[in-house]
Amino acid sequence: MKIAIGCDHGGLEHKNAIAEHLKENGFEVTDVGIYEQVSVDYPDIATKVTELITKGECELGILVCGTGIGMSIAANKVKGIRAAACSEHFSAKYTRMHNNSNILCLGGRVIGVGTAVELADIFVNTSFEGDRHQRRIDKITKIEENN
Ligand code: RB5
Repeated sequence: MKIAIGCDHGGLEHKNAIAEHLKENGFEVTDVGIYEQVSVDYPDIATKVTELITKGECELGILVCGTGIGMSIAANKVKGIRAAACSEHFSAKYTRMHNNSNILCLGGRVIGVGTAVELADIFVNTSFEGDRHQRRIDKITKIEENN
């Protein structure tokens, strides 16, 4: 599975640890940066990751900023993107199972590196349940189409 990953200056250490973990576990990782501790604007990074997903080049994405919230707000502006900011295991699992989320957003200033790696691992290894949840996602798609 191909995973797109990116971060701003609030999540470099977390992003690097997640990328390394995923590669070690057989995932193909496209890292859009940042690659060193420089200040950037999180919407620019979110755009790079969402483009890889909407173009079909990656299946899932992971974005890390200080809180995970800015990245999720930016990513969710893109049609077809369902980005979830999570800081605990249950949400990381169920947002795949029920929301078919395609981007996990994490807060580098909210959770530790170890928790971030575990949440990313859960996210990429959990499948969408479909069924009644698809009906609800179809309604989200309708909201996108009407706005
Ligand atoms: C950057 O300082 C910070 O605002 C950003 O990483 C993120 O937390 C925004 O939501």
